[in-house]
Amino acid sequence: MKRVALPLLLPVLLLSSVPVGAAEPAAFTPGEDRPAGDLTHHQPRDKKAFTRPAATLTADQMMRFKLGDGFFRRIWVSAPASTQAADGLGPLFNSRSCQRCHVGDGRGHLPDGSMGSEAFFLRLSVPPRTEAEQKALADGRQAVIPDPVYGTQLQTSSIQGHAAEGQVRIDWTDRPVTLADGHRVVLRQPHYQITGLAYGPLDPDVMISPRVAPPMIGLGLLEAIPEADLLAKEDPDDRDGDGISGRANRVWDVAAGAVRMGRFGWKAGQPTLDQQNQSAFNGDIGLSTPLFPKAAGDCTAAQATCLTAPDGNSPQYQNLEVPQAVSDLVLFYTRTLSGPARDARVAASAQVLRGKGLFTDIGCAACHTPQHRTADQGVDPVVAGQTVWPYTDLLLHDMGDGLADNRPEGLADGREWRTPPLWGLGLTAVVSPRAGYLHDGRARTVLEAVLWHGGEAAAARDRVQALPAGDRDALLAFLNAL
Ligand code: HEC
Ligand code: HEC
Repeated sequence: MKRVALPLLLPVLLLSSVPVGAAEPAAFTPGEDRPAGDLTHHQPRDKKAFTRPAATLTADQMMRFKLGDGFFRRIWVSAPASTQAADGLGPLFNSRSCQRCHVGDGRGHLPDGSMGSEAFFLRLSVPPRTEAEQKALADGRQAVIPDPVYGTQLQTSSIQGHAAEGQVRIDWTDRPVTLADGHRVVLRQPHYQITGLAYGPLDPDVMISPRVAPPMIGLGLLEAIPEADLLAKEDPDDRDGDGISGRANRVWDVAAGAVRMGRFGWKAGQPTLDQQNQSAFNGDIGLSTPLFPKAAGDCTAAQATCLTAPDGNSPQYQNLEVPQAVSDLVLFYTRTLSGPARDARVAASAQVLRGKGLFTDIGCAACHTPQHRTADQGVDPVVAGQTVWPYTDLLLHDMGDGLADNRPEGLADGREWRTPPLWGLGLTAVVSPRAGYLHDGRARTVLEAVLWHGGEAAAARDRVQALPAGDRDALLAFLNAL
């Protein structure tokens, strides 16, 4: 339904082998070298580039940022421990700290040969089977129905005395692609196998979705873009006939007790930064928080020993493992991690500007919206009124079979993903050397990531495949200069 326009577009593209837009380099737009607006930092573009606070923080705010950073790095231990402020890990978990997955506040990476990786996990769910389950999905109260035994995420680690749920094995098949100028790229397609299941079989209908940890920069600014501006770009029935639809995810906002637009996660499954953070504390580390007070995290009723294990809830911390004060500091930290300035000379160079022109002309900007303005009011003043350059519309798009996980989440179907921001893209390998691109980290280079685009983005991908080498290099130079 959403792809009707593509068969019409493709023949036109194949016929017009003339590269689109090769003629006109774009102009440098003042401000585009400061992606996070006034919050942009001007420290070196080195491996700490994603860890820097907003340039605008006051001394008092700097203090809160540093305290939040401490909790983001904190290594949690199992309860009971002598340090009551840091116990409560698990019993099941994927990692002991936020930072171990969001390496250098950047992205995580895949297991590498026999070496495991904490920063990658499988989300799990089953199709709705009862009326109550159907209703919970239809009302938006739940985004998924958990596997009856393993819950919504496969926890590959556990505290002593408990069994981890299982391990993930990834096998690869090569998919060679030859570009119009003869350049050959070998894409690798992942296949997942779950081994060592400790709590019996998975549900026969289980759906799995592989995810790697995304970078953490500029998230407070993304949260502050007015919803109306984002919804104005929705085009679910592709009425403008450009082959690109785009629609917002809608998910349950626990604090508001209502359905809200989803913004965070690879399928925009979380409506707010606070809820995203707290669900990470709960699901990834196994800690109770104000919004998710279950101390056993993602343990299910079928995992009885896990549910009755000692927890780290302490009376002096609101009977939680992560009390409000701590989740508030982590919220402030994640809201004010800024993002590096681009090198203005590089950004204004002829090749990069030519790539910038191509980015728009071949249709990348239709989803990767270059610029937004954050709200002036109704948001934390620290992120208000900024012109920012994230290169995302925060909407869901059908990306084709090659990227499909076939696991719906909220309104997102099994082929849809949220357009990820591209700011800081060029620093990916500097910050987290083994990191890959896309939701499951399968792409080893930016070009591989682009060649995986399908569905609504198939036309843009075909145009990249058709580019002469010089234009392709210019496009990649632009992306690597972000
Ligand atoms: C086990 C690895 C892991 C740990 C630990 C972890 N994360 Fe994540 N994080 C992820 C993955 C994977 C995603 C993508 C989730 C999705 O698509 O649903 C993510 C997404 C996020 C996002 C959304 C970013 C975006 O661009 O939408 C935020 C914010 C975040 N995590 C914060 C945290 C915080 C805060 C902690 C610690 C409390 C934490 N994470 C711990 C792996 C991890
Ligand atoms: C129809 C919308 C759409 C269009 C058009 C589009 N993209 Fe994307 N892009 C996405 C989505 C959605 C993803 C995430 C897919 C996934 O993770 O499986 C993505 C991912 C990416 C990534 C990887 C980002 C990351 O954080 O790992 C890069 C790089 C990228 N796109 C560049 C481009 C370029 C260059 C073009 C133009 C040739 C383009 N995109 C066109 C929607 C689009």
